[in-house]
Amino acid sequence: MTTKNMIDIEGLTKVYRTGDVAVHALRGIDLAVAPGELVSIMGPSGSGKSTLMNLIGCLDRPSDGSYRLVGDEVSQLSDNDLAEVRNRRIGFVFQSFNLLPKLTALQNVELPLMYRGLTPAERRQMATDALTRVGLAHRLHHRPPELSGGQIQRVAVARALAGQPAILLADEPTGNLDSRSGEEVMVLFQELNRGGVTIVVVTHDDHIAAHTRRIVRLRDGRIVSDEAVEQPLDAVAELAKLPPPEDEGMEAVEQARGARKAASESSVRAAAPAPSGRSGAAAAKEAGL
Ligand SMILES: Nc1ncnc2c1ncn2[C@@H]1O[C@H](COP(=O)(O)OP(=O)(O)OP(=O)(O)O)[C@@H](O)[C@H]1O
Ligand SMILES: [Mg+2]
Repeated sequence: MTTKNMIDIEGLTKVYRTGDVAVHALRGIDLAVAPGELVSIMGPSGSGKSTLMNLIGCLDRPSDGSYRLVGDEVSQLSDNDLAEVRNRRIGFVFQSFNLLPKLTALQNVELPLMYRGLTPAERRQMATDALTRVGLAHRLHHRPPELSGGQIQRVAVARALAGQPAILLADEPTGNLDSRSGEEVMVLFQELNRGGVTIVVVTHDDHIAAHTRRIVRLRDGRIVSDEAVEQPLDAVAELAKLPPPEDEGMEAVEQARGARKAASESSVRAAAPAPSGRSGAAAAKEAGL
């Protein structure tokens, strides 16, 4: 074996038993995800997407099959060991955000770091860094009810990222968001993915999936297709197509950032053929962007 896969799943099954009823939620999943991938998982309601994500995220154990996470078999671990792996290796973003409404953004992001044996100052620094990374440095002390839906989702992403996980898992991260906020989450995911974070995202939305580089489809607990996306959508470009946001604040700043990037790209294109030896960045700089 040359490079370790991030996720290596073979013959994974999950049967939920409620009284006398057995639900076969997963019926033999084989899935390998390499480091640095950006994958979406799609499929009808009840097809097993969340079940699979919960297993990948070490929130639950399979009924059968093997799951190696960065080379380590985790399918048989005890609850405590599973919690430890989850805390260190996985960042999870849920559709319903799962933030505590009475805590500030900073406190929410610090929470999962409590179990890491860090000093309060270290925790604070890591949480601040993560919130800065998602563009919320100016909202550290706001509580979720004082933030927009898109901002809350970015706090959730920051919380998932703060511990520098190997994998970011997101189950319908844009399901509760308007299209602009959803697109902003995809800007963030593509940015993080370019920075090397492996991301698996569950979505019902074809447009969201079209931003990823691979689409895995489930039906009745099985994978029915697994295809590369030839030309993933660029979230920054998609964002620029949307009508401007109504409120001032981060969205407006981001829009400006997006517009600037788009402008610099088009100016580079307009300048083509570029004189040899001059980088696009230098050209953009010269153009005053
Ligand atoms: N804790 C549970 N106990 C019993 N059955 C469950 C449990 N969780 C899920 N199921 C069942 O397992 C199947 C797969 O559910 P799952 O939540 O994985 O679907 P999904 O693809 O995420 O659907 P959705 O798109 O609606 O979120 C469903 O039939 C569901 O009813
Ligand atoms: Mg689900």
